[in-house]
Amino acid sequence: MTGVTGSTGGAAVAADRILVVDFGAQYAQLIARRVREAKVFSEIVPHDLTASEFADRRPSGIIFSGGPASVHVDGAPRIDPGIYELGVPILGICYGAQLIAQQQGGTVGRNERGEYGRTELAVEHPGTLLADAGTGVQDVWMSHFDAITAAPAGATVTASSAEAPVAAFESSERGLYGVQFHPEVHHTPCGQALLSRFLHDVCGCPGDWTMESIIDASVAAIRDQVGTGRAICGLSGGVDSAVAAALVHEAIGDQLTCVFVDTGLMRAGEGEQVVEAFQKTQGIELIHVRAADRFFEGLAGVTDPEEKRRVIGELFIRIFEEAAAGIRDARFLVQGTLYPDVIESGSGHAAKIKSHHNVGGLPEDMDFDLVEPLRNLFKDEVRAVGSQLGLPDEIVWRQPFPGPGLGVRIVGEVTRETVSVLQAADLIVREELHRAGLDREIWQAFAVLPDIRSVGVMGDERTYARPVIIRAVTSEDAMTADWARLPYDLLESMSSRIINEVDGVNRVAYDITSKPPGTIEWE
Ligand code: XMP
Repeated sequence: MTGVTGSTGGAAVAADRILVVDFGAQYAQLIARRVREAKVFSEIVPHDLTASEFADRRPSGIIFSGGPASVHVDGAPRIDPGIYELGVPILGICYGAQLIAQQQGGTVGRNERGEYGRTELAVEHPGTLLADAGTGVQDVWMSHFDAITAAPAGATVTASSAEAPVAAFESSERGLYGVQFHPEVHHTPCGQALLSRFLHDVCGCPGDWTMESIIDASVAAIRDQVGTGRAICGLSGGVDSAVAAALVHEAIGDQLTCVFVDTGLMRAGEGEQVVEAFQKTQGIELIHVRAADRFFEGLAGVTDPEEKRRVIGELFIRIFEEAAAGIRDARFLVQGTLYPDVIESGSGHAAKIKSHHNVGGLPEDMDFDLVEPLRNLFKDEVRAVGSQLGLPDEIVWRQPFPGPGLGVRIVGEVTRETVSVLQAADLIVREELHRAGLDREIWQAFAVLPDIRSVGVMGDERTYARPVIIRAVTSEDAMTADWARLPYDLLESMSSRIINEVDGVNRVAYDITSKPPGTIEWE
């Protein structure tokens, strides 16, 4: 087990860690992930920490990310020069490398032309970082305008390209390393080996941040935080709350009680799946609140999307509180907060498009200490932890599902009848996608029930019934999405099954809108 040096709300922190300094590029997260792929824990930090704040975090190494600025402009992000005196190895990437050069006795020129995309790198003296690449020419991915023209004092130039005379440098004595290209992207084939050399050979990280060590360390951190207290976890059926609950259960056993508020707005069979996975298989104490009636009552006559979200969100919190009040002495609330949420909450926010009610989440005015065992993990790591803990694939690989559930996939009034029509159609979409072997390639695929009717003919009868819209998208993070190019045969089988098997539906349409301008959900 990797030693635990501290805990943040039950989240484990590994002994060896790399700090990735964010200079405003979209690459900082990617760098952090690549470091973790090399089995070393990484954390993204802002560039304006002081040198002593860097030191307090006891990093084994520091990586400066790229960034959109030029080191020559006023207001370009800098770093406390005291960081170079900490005795911690530093690797600069792109802007990060230029900043090291500028601050440490090298020079950065303003180029006539930059280099963008695939570029040939001539490796002259491989040194440590390029040892696997060896002398010769390598394809790398570049994205720069300025270029380093003289390496930092005492550093050796190890590689160059047409527009970057110092495309890579290193000084093992000073612990300074820099590359103008991006080792974190897949278009740089030698990139992962380069990062691995930095992490293992230069920083001396053993690479023991494995699934087993994450679980061991998290269990220890949760026990440390909760002691003999009682904890509650709201289960939504989604991956994050499920894995958080399983991890906390592993740590404190029957000191944990889960509350599952069944809104009646989940997809077909999902309520039973949650009960099966947690109560029956994992033996976790579960309060199952069957609250569908209250939700349908609250939603009667409500058609405005934001009003629906408000009604569902408020009811959820009220019902959760009622259930929690029955659990005596509970002082801790388990939350499935993930690392991207933590990163995002520290930065500027995009405009609110929809009010994402925190259904399945935290009632704001409840008096609990938070246990957030997934705060340091990315989604794919959370899935791996879930599988390791024995959660079934249907839960671990569940697609993202909105808190207000099918309520925001029914345009117009949400009733028992509209929900059951949508559940039947949605189940067919999922079954057919699974049968086609595409479920892990598609970010989300589901059915939507709009509030319109159209004319059709079935047998010799005229019909006047509802259409169902199929929505399937590919995405990396739900911020943007593209409509999925599902095979025609698959769309055909979804369509004919829906028409034949779902009463009240006589037409199927496919949504070919990307995000933006559309959103993934219809409401
Ligand atoms: P949109 O529709 O805004 O959705 O493109 C982006 C992602 O968020 C999910 N979503 C929600 N998740 N509560 C949630 O927890 C919500 O109210 C909510 N609304 C949308 C949506 O399924 C997609 O993955």
